[in-house]
Amino acid sequence: MSDPYFQQLFAQRIGRANYGKDTEIYKFEKIKRAKRKALADHPERQLIDFGIGENDEMADESVRRVMAEEINKPENRGYADNGVIEFKEAVAAFMQRAYGVTLDAATEVNHSIGSKPALAMLPGVFINPGDVTLMTVPGYPVAGTHTKYYGGVTYNLPLLAESNFLPELDSIPGDVLAKAKILVLCYPNSPTGALATEDFYKRVIDFAHKHQLIVVQDAAHLLLTFDQKPLSFLSVDGAKEVGVEVHSLSKGFDMIGWRIGWVCGNERIVQAFADVKDNCDSGQFIAIQKAAAAALADDSIPTRIRAKYERRLQKLVTVLKDCGFDCQMPGGSYFLYTPSPKGLAGGETFADGEAASQYLITEHSICTVPWDDAGPYLRFSVTYEAVDEAAEDALMAETASRLKQIQPVF
Ligand SMILES: Cc1ncc(COP(=O)(O)O)c(C=O)c1O
Repeated sequence: MSDPYFQQLFAQRIGRANYGKDTEIYKFEKIKRAKRKALADHPERQLIDFGIGENDEMADESVRRVMAEEINKPENRGYADNGVIEFKEAVAAFMQRAYGVTLDAATEVNHSIGSKPALAMLPGVFINPGDVTLMTVPGYPVAGTHTKYYGGVTYNLPLLAESNFLPELDSIPGDVLAKAKILVLCYPNSPTGALATEDFYKRVIDFAHKHQLIVVQDAAHLLLTFDQKPLSFLSVDGAKEVGVEVHSLSKGFDMIGWRIGWVCGNERIVQAFADVKDNCDSGQFIAIQKAAAAALADDSIPTRIRAKYERRLQKLVTVLKDCGFDCQMPGGSYFLYTPSPKGLAGGETFADGEAASQYLITEHSICTVPWDDAGPYLRFSVTYEAVDEAAEDALMAETASRLKQIQPVF
C-alpha cells in the first residue's frame, strides 16, 4: 500500500512518518493472536482464559433499572460538562462510608469518563516539556504515555517482591527529582496485587513536600481489597495537601463498559483537572452518572463482587501452589502475579515470562499475561467466565490437570 499524502504529517509522538509501519507486535495483540490460533488449532480443547482484565458480569440489576428510568428523563439529555452534583454527592458520601475520607462534594470531586481518561488528562495539568513523571513498573502506563505526549519524560520505579512491591523512593537520582512533578502510584497495585501501607503513604506525603511534587494515586482496584479495610491514600493525614486519588466504578461495581469514575482530593488540582477535562470532553451521560450514584449508595454490590473474586483467587492460589508455583493470595485486585516458570521438567526452557506465556497458550490453551518489566512474571486474572461455583471448580480442576502434566520448573 502506498503512503497517503499526509504520511509525513503524523506527530512525532505516534512515530511521525513511520506511523502504521511498525512491525513490532505488542504484548496484548500477541496474546489475542495466540488465543485465536489456540482456538483454531484445538477446537476440542477448552480455552482457559486467565488473560482477561475485565469483570465477567453485568452491572447489578438494581443499577441497570435506575439507568433504564434515567435514560427516559428529558432533563438528562444534554451536555453534562463537569458533572452533576447528584454524582459528586454520592461520591462524597461513599468516600466517607467506605474509606473514612471527608470531601467537599462541590469542590473536591470531579467525575471522569472512567479512570483511564483521568489518568490521561492529569499530566496535562502539570507537565511541560522536559518535566518528569515518576511511574511504577510493571504498571498501568497511561499517565506515562501522556506525559511523553506533552514532551515530558518518565522515570520508572521497579516494583520488586523484596520491597513488597512498593517503590524505593530513596533510589531516585537527584537530577531526576529536580525535574519530577508527578508521582503516580497504584494501590491495590495492578498487576502485582500488592497493597500500600499507611506508613508508606506517610513517607510519600513527606517525599512530595520535600521534593515539591504532586501525587496521583490510582485507586481503580481499591474496592477489591481482601482481609483488611481498604486504605485510601486520602485517609492519611496530609494526603489532600499533596495530591489526588483517581477512582472508578469499573472493577468494584461491575461497570467496566459504563465509563464512569472520578478524581478527588486536593481542591486546586481537582479544579485544574476539571479545566483540562472541560477542554477534552463534555461529561458522561447524566443518566449514567445518576445510575452510578445509585450504585455508590449500595454497599452490598462491591461486597458481593469482592467476595466472588477473593474466592476465585483463593482457589487459583491453591491450584498453582499444588503445581509448583510460588504464589500467595494478593492483597487486592483480581490478579495473581507470580514468578514465571523457568522451564519444564522435560527440559524445555523459557527465556522470560513472555516465552512461558506463549507456551502455555499455544500448547495447552491456558491464557495468561506476561510481565517482564521487573523480573519474569505471569499474571493470572480470575475474571474468567464461570456461571457458578461448580463451573469455577471444574475450571480449576482442568487447570491443575494441564499444569501437572507439564511439570513447570522454577
Ligand atoms: C490500574 C488501572 N487503572 C485504571 C484502569 C482504567 O479503568 P477504567 O478506565 O475502566 O476506570 C485500569 C483498567 O484496567 C487499571 O487496571
